[in-house]
Formats: sequence, structure tokens, C-alpha cells
Amino acid sequence: MITVRVEESARGPAREGRLRGARLVDFVDEARAPIPLSCRGGTCGTCRVRVLEGAHLLAPPSAREAETRAWFGEGPDVRLACVARAVAGGRGLLRLVALD
Ligand code: FES
Repeated sequence: MITVRVEESARGPAREGRLRGARLVDFVDEARAPIPLSCRGGTCGTCRVRVLEGAHLLAPPSAREAETRAWFGEGPDVRLACVARAVAGGRGLLRLVALD
């Protein structure tokens, strides 16, 4: 089981809960986590989050996610919440914070 905690930020108060499937965006929607979403397709970069803990619980980024991340000049600790997926069978805490 993966527990997701999205830390408080200028985007809103912290939220924590269980990741029920592989898609991080489903947690964001269900928990009303403070991560803004726009395109939901990995191209606009609105949903950029910094992974504070548990990066190993996410599958490697797709080519599109990596390209968008590079366009913003972000390093490997930044992921796109709309397209990031959990690894199968992962267990632990995934701690994130939305970027401005
Ligand atoms: S919402 Fe556009 S890249 Fe995630």
C-alpha cells in the first residue's frame, strides 16, 4: 500500500490518503489535494510536484513527462502529477509538494 501525503503549500492545505490505483491523478482528484491540474496529459507542466520522499514508489517518467520536465528545467525530483504512475506492489510513503 502506498500512502500519499501532499504537503501544505500556497496551493492549499495538506492532504493524505491511500493511493488506490496506479494513477497519482486519481488521488489528487479524490483527496482534493493541493495540486493544480490543467491539460491532464503531461504537456503543460501545471501539475509539477517535488517528490520529498518515496521517489522509488513511482515508475520512471514517460518520454513526454521527461520532455515537459526538461522544458521547465526541473531535475529528476520533480514529477507531473497528472501522468505519474505508481510501481506495482509498492509500499510506503510518497510525500510531495506542489511547485509554484
Ligand atoms: S496538468 Fe498539464 S502536465 Fe499535468
